[in-house]
Amino acid sequence: MSTHITGRLTRRSFVNSVGTALGGAGALLAGGLPISIANSAVTKTPFGIAVELEPFRNDPEYRKALTKYADILVPMNALKWASLRHNRHEFDFNGADEIIEFAKLHGKSVRGHALLWYAYNPKWVEAISSAKQAEKLLVEHIEQVVDRYRGVIPSWDVVNEVVAHDPLSQGNWRKGIWLDLLGRKHVEIAFKAAARTDPNAQLVINDYDLANFGRRFDARRDAILAIVRNLQDQNIPVHGVGLQAHLYAERETDADGLALFVKKLTSLGVKLLVTELDVIDWRLARDPKRRDLAVARTASEFLAALYSAGDVESITCWGITDKYSWITDVFKRKDGAPNRPLPLDRNYQPKPLFHTIEKYRNLG
Ligand code: XIL
Repeated sequence: MSTHITGRLTRRSFVNSVGTALGGAGALLAGGLPISIANSAVTKTPFGIAVELEPFRNDPEYRKALTKYADILVPMNALKWASLRHNRHEFDFNGADEIIEFAKLHGKSVRGHALLWYAYNPKWVEAISSAKQAEKLLVEHIEQVVDRYRGVIPSWDVVNEVVAHDPLSQGNWRKGIWLDLLGRKHVEIAFKAAARTDPNAQLVINDYDLANFGRRFDARRDAILAIVRNLQDQNIPVHGVGLQAHLYAERETDADGLALFVKKLTSLGVKLLVTELDVIDWRLARDPKRRDLAVARTASEFLAALYSAGDVESITCWGITDKYSWITDVFKRKDGAPNRPLPLDRNYQPKPLFHTIEKYRNLG
């Protein structure tokens, strides 16, 4: 396992954020921490949690869990266009700032999600109809947001879900405002603007459905690789690929396909991040104990494939407790039983998924 020292959201920045949390001990970091702390920080894969504002503001137990378990916090929605850009002229950074302040206070690192996405845009953005306007707006948005958090957010999902759901029938690119107006160069525009604004930030392309068997998944992995190569051919920085990992428990993991994907990414010199891990349990039998085991097994197969093939820079879950998860809204079970997609149950008790993630993190 390499030491991941690249100066972005890496073991080093993680160690530094631990250093900040330790107060005076932070000063020691350059010269070396006491071995036990340095070792534990350097060898374990950092763990991230996506933070939802509503419980963050209102549920003390939720904040406690963030403090206790996370190395990295990711505003789940607060940095998306619809949250930041209620109108063309103003930015509303309140939600993101609250989470980032909390992160600083507790010595956590932060990842930014997301600078460009086809979804979650305000109506006035969807109404834009000229390419010139779209490019200006996109570039200005990225400049403003990345600049505001320069030195504070070391890693960004620059583009989110730019690959079509099914490249075999739809072509490689996801339809939406940015593709419609700017064509495939919207990805280049976004990465260039982010790199120019914060040359030290880790810039990530993030996408879903990259883990399973089947031609659609092969095509999606190939599309990501093609985008990364295209950026590199033009000397546009791209440092990481984010696997969202909203894993369907009923689908078969393509361990070989995933491992090959990781190896190809490694040979291209880009890092691999797990950015939105949770397990979709809507088709599993109801029994909670057995369901929790099946959920953990799904994550285990996925993580085993990744760790067998290369380095995993961080594992972020899309939430931490089953009490709050988008899976409950989007992937409801027919029997009406509450979903169980995340590491902690509704009472904040660790589930098998929690221990599975810990097991792989320890291989980090
Ligand atoms: C989801 C959030 O979890 C929800 O709260 C919100 O209503 C919609 O977005 N892929 C992504 C995330 O990249 O941004 C999405 O998050 C989940 C799917």
